[in-house]
Amino acid sequence: MTQKKWTAVDDYIAGLFVGNDPVLDSAQEASAAAGLPAIAVSPVQGKFLYLLARFGGARRILEIGTLGGYSTIWLARALPNGGRLISLELSAHHAEVARANLARAKLSDLAEVRVGAALDSLRQLEEERAGPFDVIFIDADKPGYPDYWQASLGLSRPGTLIIADNVVREGAVVDAKSKDENVRAVRRYHELVAAETRVSAMVLQTVGSKGYDGLSLALVT
Ligand code: SAH
Ligand code: DHB
Ligand code: MG
Repeated sequence: MTQKKWTAVDDYIAGLFVGNDPVLDSAQEASAAAGLPAIAVSPVQGKFLYLLARFGGARRILEIGTLGGYSTIWLARALPNGGRLISLELSAHHAEVARANLARAKLSDLAEVRVGAALDSLRQLEEERAGPFDVIFIDADKPGYPDYWQASLGLSRPGTLIIADNVVREGAVVDAKSKDENVRAVRRYHELVAAETRVSAMVLQTVGSKGYDGLSLALVT
């Protein structure tokens, strides 16, 4: 009942504010056809990420966890000419699907997918002095979130917005005794963010077609 209503309202919102978008549809279809799991952000969540990046005037965006590039397309669309997005992905197969989707979206010039364990790629970005990024979207393996937080801070400047997906986990996040490694890592993530004096942060609970979850938003001050 509840999920049914959340999905109906999400579809209604998407109908009004995302509309018909053949590029996004083909990205989802190609990802499904390639056997990727259906865990990309929803259309409405994608639009939210796009609006955040647009609002901040982001010129450099970092994404951790590409999958088929669905959220990547949304974020890259927020970039001005000459902007740049780097997305980190462990799976060479996922990256290949994402690159094809980005090419269909005519975003290949703006967006690059780097294959490897995100923590290694983040260290590489530090060495290259590739930062600072204006927006960082963390959405890879949840046990890695605490490390991705620390690395993201190192690639930030005052004004950077660090966003993390799936940080409420159907409310399981409040269980201090949880044995679920994803819940434990997300709790650790929130503790690190809350203890960090260089950011101002909050967590937004979300419902919709992807169920009950939430996004962490941290602005580097
Ligand atoms: N941001 C995507 C969804 C990402 S799903 C979207 O909304 O469209 C999570 C992705 O993280 C998967 O593709 C998975 O392969 C990748 N991943 C898992 N562990 C990783 C790691 N250690 N380093 C980089 N990527 C990882
Ligand atoms: C999973 C990962 C995600 O990033 C997400 O948004 C939903 C589910 C997962 O690994 O199951
Ligand atoms: Mg996610």
